[in-house]
Amino acid sequence: MKILGIETSCDETGVCLVEGTGTFESHDVRFTVLGNALYSQIAVHAVYGGVYPNLARREHVNNLVPMLTECLKQANCLIEQPTPTTTASRSDLAEILLREPELLIHIEEFLRQYGRPNIDAIAVTHGPGLEPALWVGVNFAKALSAAWNIPIVAVNHMEGHSIISMFNATNGTTQCLLKKDGDETLGCATSKGSGSEYSMRDIVFSLLSILISGGHTEIVLSRSWREYEVIGQTYDDAIGEAFDKVARLMDLPYPGGPEISRMATQARERNLAERPAFALPRPVLHDGTFNFSFSGLKTAVRRIVESFGLMNDEDKMVLAREFENAAADVIVAKAMRAIEHYGVASVIVGGGVSANVHIRRRLAEAIDDTATLLFPTPSLATDNALMIAIAGYFDAVKGKYINPNDLRANGNLSL
Ligand code: KG4
Ligand code: ZN
Repeated sequence: MKILGIETSCDETGVCLVEGTGTFESHDVRFTVLGNALYSQIAVHAVYGGVYPNLARREHVNNLVPMLTECLKQANCLIEQPTPTTTASRSDLAEILLREPELLIHIEEFLRQYGRPNIDAIAVTHGPGLEPALWVGVNFAKALSAAWNIPIVAVNHMEGHSIISMFNATNGTTQCLLKKDGDETLGCATSKGSGSEYSMRDIVFSLLSILISGGHTEIVLSRSWREYEVIGQTYDDAIGEAFDKVARLMDLPYPGGPEISRMATQARERNLAERPAFALPRPVLHDGTFNFSFSGLKTAVRRIVESFGLMNDEDKMVLAREFENAAADVIVAKAMRAIEHYGVASVIVGGGVSANVHIRRRLAEAIDDTATLLFPTPSLATDNALMIAIAGYFDAVKGKYINPNDLRANGNLSL
């Protein structure tokens, strides 16, 4: 089955075409990436130090058709045709894209030039995320579905982050970033382009998903396949949001996560001395829940930065390391508490912050042999359309499609 994934929940515009075989029950699920196009809006938002929903929306409107074109081109599915063949009238498409008139123009141009590709289903992120951004992807999916007469699967973005961690790259240029005693569960960096193949690892339940991203910090318990119970979440800021805000306080560019990580790594490599004045709290560490709080940590960094005055690179490295240590301490403590409490067999770490090498290492050391630990390939930890295509496949293969009239973006969608 060929499935087209569409992702626009935040600041990445992604379109991916995969071919999947198997079902979870058959214990042999494989995907071949036929085309994968991802446009990162980071440079656009970096100027403002954060993501602006309406700017993100505009960028998705401008970049979805170019990403679709690139994806189908990689997949050899871009078929030039002399006469347009769509199953939707101009007024159908105009109604679907009433709020995205520029996207309507791009799509009409595309449909005039290219024929219907050989695709079985469309998977689109319908939440959670920035609602103006989500709507662009949702309406784009509806328009393609109408134009090509292809059914739609609605995908929860967080399920995409969780499910992608269950897959191993089985070919492509694979380079392991982290290894522990020959154990490759720490994840590998691999080419995510067309031709890459992924196969599903063996998953033993109960499964704990630690989902750490720019918008979420959640611990989710799954007692069986695709059954989710959120047992812990943040009271305030998400962990990635905290990385981004702390970086901004230190005058580091957006997105802050990779910058903080880079500075913290340098502090460790240079063995820079700790500074008592830079000590940060470990919020809600001992509150007996699986919840988190990151806004206090950010406020503590703000106070330090304000009282310290101008910071040089070394000062920033030491503070970044302390922040990363504090974030890792709370993630590890809550994860271990949940693992022990529920006696889980497998642990998944997903979402943009799961790209963080220090947090990976700390979790791997703490969990050790207590449970099987699964990380996403680092290049697939942050938002992408491959995870949406793969997560959507499991509904598509069972014929669980959504009526386009019932499909809506939902910024607060939960698992
Ligand atoms: O999953 P994601 O791409 O988007 C959301 O769904 O939110 O996550 C983006 C977040 C950003 O806050 C970014 O700073 C953070 O992931 N991030 C990292 C790293 N790479 C990305 N945080 C810490 N360390 C990293 N290496
Ligand atoms: Zn995400």
